[in-house]
Amino acid sequence: MHEFQRVIDVGEVPDPGKTLVEVEGEMVAVFHVDGQFYALDDVCTHDGGPLADGELRDHKIACPRHGAKFDIRTGAALTMPAVRPTRSHEVKVEAGGVWVRLRDAAAATGPAAHAAPAATSGTGVVAAGPAPTAAAGATAPAASGAVEGSLASLPLSEEVVREMLKDVKDPELFVNVVDLGLIYGVTLADAAEAAGKKHVAIDMTMTSPACPAGPQLIGDAKRVVGARPDVSAVEVRIVMDPPWTPDRMTEAARDQLGIF
Ligand code: FES
Repeated sequence: MHEFQRVIDVGEVPDPGKTLVEVEGEMVAVFHVDGQFYALDDVCTHDGGPLADGELRDHKIACPRHGAKFDIRTGAALTMPAVRPTRSHEVKVEAGGVWVRLRDAAAATGPAAHAAPAATSGTGVVAAGPAPTAAAGATAPAASGAVEGSLASLPLSEEVVREMLKDVKDPELFVNVVDLGLIYGVTLADAAEAAGKKHVAIDMTMTSPACPAGPQLIGDAKRVVGARPDVSAVEVRIVMDPPWTPDRMTEAARDQLGIF
């Protein structure tokens, strides 16, 4: 059980205002709005952005890195690209000071906040591994549905591949990778080993280097595009430069996510 720690004097932070303090070795953002104080981990759950450096408006703090907003009263993630809450802490005002008591991570944010990031690279290009099988089953698109209808009858092209990739959805946001702006490029090349077939290379990014959905998105992309009989192989390359930003999303994605 943590104890309350005095972190600032009451008059130290204007209203509205914010500051960064250290409590038991952890960096905590303290907010002062409408006469009340609040405290959150100084960590954006999208990719670790420093929340205390963000823009404070009413009871919302915007991450300075990609713009995700959090409710300073609860730590709830309000907008993309963050989908998990950040940890909030207990605050009291006493003896002219503001006191913070850390909450344990499990109590503050629930189990969803602790989904361990899977091993995707933050260093640039990664060769795609084999497609996940059973692990991705819960949300994997049905391969048989990926090439049905008129799309299957069209000659293979970059546009057709992009349309097919709309069957690949982020498992947390339920928006497809094309509308999220994650597809940087599609390249087709004649397959040396199979006449009349193409090798498809897809350059795909993630909303963050540690995106836990990475392996599933790679596997789903390979499965969906590889279902065509005129495709010999699908390579998915993870590209983190330039980094993804929310303005890469289409209007459809923004509508779906209810943002902006
Ligand atoms: S690190 Fe905060 S929105 Fe990306």
